[in-house]
Parts: sequence; structure tokens; C-alpha cells
Amino acid sequence: MKVTEAELIISAGRADQFPPGPFPEVALSGRSNVGKSSFVNKIIGRKALARTSQRPGKTQTLNFYRINERFHFVDVPGYGYAKVSKKERDAWGRLMERYFEERDQLKGVVQLVDVRHKPTEDDKMMYDFLKHFSKKVIVVATKADKIPKGKQQKQLAVIKRELDMDSEDPLVLFSAETGLGKDKAWREISEVLFK
Ligand code: GTP
Ligand code: MG
Repeated sequence: MKVTEAELIISAGRADQFPPGPFPEVALSGRSNVGKSSFVNKIIGRKALARTSQRPGKTQTLNFYRINERFHFVDVPGYGYAKVSKKERDAWGRLMERYFEERDQLKGVVQLVDVRHKPTEDDKMMYDFLKHFSKKVIVVATKADKIPKGKQQKQLAVIKRELDMDSEDPLVLFSAETGLGKDKAWREISEVLFK
């Protein structure tokens, strides 16, 4: 997909700030620092539309990006960052629940996991949570540039097994560094948005 327009329309810290409108949307979910913002930037082809950081916990609001006046990407705050207080974690949980429960135009979720590691308990919980809300999940195994090619297939099998992935959910090997998997990710996202 060629992106001609990409604009941050709102950073929502509260449910009443979720933007209205007819656009279908896809949300990005994943552990803090896994590479959600980098994924959005890479596939949109903007260097720094979504703010990225080496410091985990950078994205703390739901950031709604409008693409081509046709759909939204929603960059969701990462989970599993140990240094966040219990109070902040609870607030995060409530906001996520509101979002995934109530958002009718949410067509599917891109869940990112780090291809180098076995999915964490938080990853598994998040995947189950999304399936509980009957969301289609595109699992993106990112940071592929950080492991040798020979290990990639084995890691993908581990991810599939550990998340106990729905056979209908696609798994895409990706790198924000090299652009690997970009076309496949777009195909899956378009399918979810417009089918
Ligand atoms: P939060 O907003 O804190 O939840 O983090 P995030 O998931 O948005 O992660 P972000 O995109 O900010 O990336 C975190 C770090 O990982 C940054 O230093 C990125 O440059 C790096 N990174 C992300 N994707 C890749 C990748 O595919 N390859 C490599 N080598 N580094 C990556
Ligand atoms: Mg981020």
C-alpha cells in the first residue's frame, strides 16, 4: 500500500478521547520496547511519525494515526514493563479493556513479539485476551535482523506453539531495520481492514 497521508490525530489517555469517525482501524500491541512504534514507522515509510525509544515505556497513550483518510493505526502502550507502578499498570489495564471491548471499528490487532525469545507470560495473556474479544490477530515476529537466518524458522515454530496460535491467524517475520516482511504485513493488514 502506498501511504500518501499519515497524521497523528490524537494521543488518548482516556476512553472519552478515542476519536469518533467511520474509519476501520488496526491496533499494535506488544511488550514495551518490542518495536511497535518502529513497525508503524517502517511500514508507513516515515522515519519518526511514531516516537521510538531505547527506554521502554515510551508510549503511554493510545496514539491514533489516520492513514490515507481511510483507516487508523493505533499505537498502544506496551505491557510488561517492570518499572511501572501498580497504579499505572491498573490504569493501563482499564484503558485497554475499554478500548478492546468497546471499539467497534477495531478490525484486528497486530501483536508484536521478539523473534529471538520465547513469548513471555504477558505475551500469552495478551494473545488470549485479544482472542477472548474475538479479534483477528496478526502476529509479527520482529527484530529478525538480530538472529541468524538459520534460526528464524525454529523460532517461528516456538512462537506459534507457545502462543497456541489460532490456525487462521498469520505469523509474519519482520525487521524494522531491513524492511523484511513489510509487504506481507501490508497484505495481512489490508485483508483485516477491508475484506
Ligand atoms: P514502547 O512504546 O515503549 O512500548 O516501545 P515500542 O514497542 O514502541 O518500541 P520501539 O519501536 O520504540 O523500539 C524499541 C527499540 O528497539 C528501539 O531502540 C528500536 O530502534 C529497536 N528496534 C525496533 N524494531 C527493531 C528491529 O526490527 N530491529 C532492530 N535491530 N531494532 C529494532
Ligand atoms: Mg512505542
